[in-house]
Amino acid sequence: MSNVAAPATEGPDRADHPLHVAIIMDGNGRWAAARGLPRAEGHRRGVEALRKVVRAASELGILYLTIFSFSAENWSRPATEIGDLFGLLRRFIRNDLATLHRDGVRVRVIGEREGLEPDICALLKEAEDLTRDNNRLNLVVAFNYGSRQEIAHAAQRLAREVADGKRDPSSIDADTLGQYLDAPDIPDPDLIIRTSGEQRLSNFLMWQAAYSELVFVPVHWPDFDKAALEGAIAEYARRERRFGGLAAKTGS
Ligand code: FPP
Repeated sequence: MSNVAAPATEGPDRADHPLHVAIIMDGNGRWAAARGLPRAEGHRRGVEALRKVVRAASELGILYLTIFSFSAENWSRPATEIGDLFGLLRRFIRNDLATLHRDGVRVRVIGEREGLEPDICALLKEAEDLTRDNNRLNLVVAFNYGSRQEIAHAAQRLAREVADGKRDPSSIDADTLGQYLDAPDIPDPDLIIRTSGEQRLSNFLMWQAAYSELVFVPVHWPDFDKAALEGAIAEYARRERRFGGLAAKTGS
């Protein structure tokens, strides 16, 4: 994702409509606990919500939808829950990839692949390869992703180029570093939504979020639907994005 914050001008041709929406899908566990169900059931219902939201995003003319599906910090959860989450990813790709492809969805994956099981890496690659030429909606799956790790890797790659004499340190600015992140061609998110009422980024797209509008929704992820997405977009439309400049009324 590029580090240049710019207003959304593509998509449904309205500056108040987000081109790129990113979602922290939080609250699966609490949704399940409130119903006396196992956490795994909350995650399973979370995938159902995800299916609906992907369809809704496409219908609403969103061009990029980034979802936080497994964080670098989620490894600290019990092994059984990690197994459940990986199982859901496997099933999601096996069961839904053909439909996503038919619907013109391009799947992209950000995050660290090293250390993931080979069959997971193969499935992620299969999803990316099959859908490479689609352009209706880019579904960016943040898997084994952490923003600090992403930035550290970018710094490592730049440092290597300096050490190899291929780059002058004084040539490195914010734009340069942005080009070394996981998906430099994807525009920064206009809108970041977090469900479940929690109000923090939790190591998600922290570089790219420099000028994102943040909307915190009080429903748990399994209950998030098209109407909730529309509500968050309506909230976004009410915000005034200034990108460090002046308000439109006073800035001319
Ligand atoms: C947060 O709920 C959610 C996650 C850690 C994972 C999100 C995963 C899914 C929606 C399903 C898997 C996605 C794919 C693409 C297969 P939580 O467990 O932190 O909930 P809590 O805070 O209420 O405990």
